[in-house]
Amino acid sequence: MRAVSGLLAGILDIDKRPVAPVPCPACGVDMGWRPFQGGWLPNEYCRCVEPPPPGVEELLGMCGVPLYYVKKRLADLIDHNGPLRKVVVYCEGSLLLYGLPGTGKTHIVAGLLRRELENNRVDERRAMFVVVPDMLAEIREGIRDSTMERRIQRITSIPLLILDDLGAEKPSDFARETLYRIINHRYNNHLRTWITSNMALDKGLEAHLGLRLCSRLSEMCTVIFTGSKDWRKCMRSGGSASVDVEVS
Ligand SMILES: Nc1ncnc2c1ncn2[C@@H]1O[C@H](COP(=O)(O)OP(=O)(O)OP(=O)(O)O)[C@@H](O)[C@H]1O
Ligand SMILES: [Mg+2]
Ligand SMILES: [Zn+2]
Repeated sequence: MRAVSGLLAGILDIDKRPVAPVPCPACGVDMGWRPFQGGWLPNEYCRCVEPPPPGVEELLGMCGVPLYYVKKRLADLIDHNGPLRKVVVYCEGSLLLYGLPGTGKTHIVAGLLRRELENNRVDERRAMFVVVPDMLAEIREGIRDSTMERRIQRITSIPLLILDDLGAEKPSDFARETLYRIINHRYNNHLRTWITSNMALDKGLEAHLGLRLCSRLSEMCTVIFTGSKDWRKCMRSGGSASVDVEVS
């Protein structure tokens, strides 16, 4: 198609929109014209071959949100008013959601990111969702081909970083040091970071990651407790929707 339009551009007077339509080689429909330097040039591509713009679920996937959670919306959460009110108010900054398994932490951050994308407050190149143990394994992979620093750099500098399951990684010097570097950089540069964890800052995370890292988290994040109701068990048993939610 480029060849077709290039050829036409050569023979057309671009000061005037030509009367003769330029048919798409694929579907035969007029491809239309675009303004160019005060004149007109034939479009190089037809709508029939242009891929449709990605929908929000595709964008969430591009950010790294797992398939299960790209479907999740904040509006699907039942009886989660306490934590929700807080995340919606404070999500312009950093968040630390903690609570027992199945209490909606990952659902909430995926739903929040969906909202940000839908409202064009962030785009898929400026937001990243990672599961902490997977992220550390991926960074470690970089040792082999000397890309570790580049991988860390990409994660530290993304404008919106979601760290899912902090504390689920196996404790090691490598894990502690890498997480310290990432979080310290984000703290120093006021970069928005949403974190989920099964551990409270003072009960678990401090012992797991060290005082220096947790001190930074406690200052930069709004800390939100998501409760102790395991919705996975509740959904399996077709249980009632009464949720045990507290807000710290
Ligand atoms: N308040 C709620 N109302 C309806 N469904 C919920 C609610 N909270 C969680 N769920 C659902 O329960 C399941 C588990 O939620 P989610 O994965 O977000 O939990 P989590 O807190 O991240 O757990 P984990 O600590 O194990 O990672 C998901 O399918 C989610 O959609
Ligand atoms: Mg989770
Ligand atoms: Zn066409």
